[in-house]
Amino acid sequence: TLGQGFAQAVVSWQQQHGRRALPWQNTRDPYRVWLSEIMLQQTQVVTVLGYYSRFLEHFPDVGALAAAPEDAVLALWSGLGYYSRARNLHKAAQRVVLKHGGKFPDTAAQLAQLPGVGRSTAAAIAAFCFDERVPILDANVRRVLTRFLAFEHDLARPANERALWALAAEMVPQAASDMPAYTQGMMDLGASVCTSRRPSCGTCPLAMACAARRSGNVEQFPVRSRK
Ligand code: ADE
Repeated sequence: TLGQGFAQAVVSWQQQHGRRALPWQNTRDPYRVWLSEIMLQQTQVVTVLGYYSRFLEHFPDVGALAAAPEDAVLALWSGLGYYSRARNLHKAAQRVVLKHGGKFPDTAAQLAQLPGVGRSTAAAIAAFCFDERVPILDANVRRVLTRFLAFEHDLARPANERALWALAAEMVPQAASDMPAYTQGMMDLGASVCTSRRPSCGTCPLAMACAARRSGNVEQFPVRSRK
């Protein structure tokens, strides 16, 4: 099917060209993956690297983070910005300890209940750590998908956003074990190939079947009338 060809192309591309040596990629520890995803929400990889290792030295597990005073958490976040991320991180750690006995929930649906963890972040953690077959849809991935499908509906409308999530769910690999590479591959394609301006269609593994590319209007996607 279309979906499986798509997923296979993303997985192979990731294995050959994607980022594979970032510190949070060599672990299945949901605490570490969660921390990286929160830091990466609004901050570039190069900046996150230093903060990430320093944070883990101070708070090696969710129990240590939950037990810390909020001031200590904010101090380690100082310079990263968007401090509500740090406050939510601390609250979520306390909730994991109090409500889940210190063990992270292992489904995207449960992860999405934690403060600061949206649907896409929850899905990323579940895919990376638990091989759950759930789609992510952050800004980079939204661009890849809307272009590939030439999805021309206005994403400012919740019904269209929901429809795109449903399509994204149909595109995930059949094999659960492919979910980490697929998820990272979608992120990396959006970040490095399917960029918002001047996408590199010449090196894109999806170019042959990309609907926007065929009609020559790649940069018009995604369609969103207001922010
Ligand atoms: N941005 C958000 N999540 C990421 C990840 N896992 N790797 C690189 N960049 C990201």
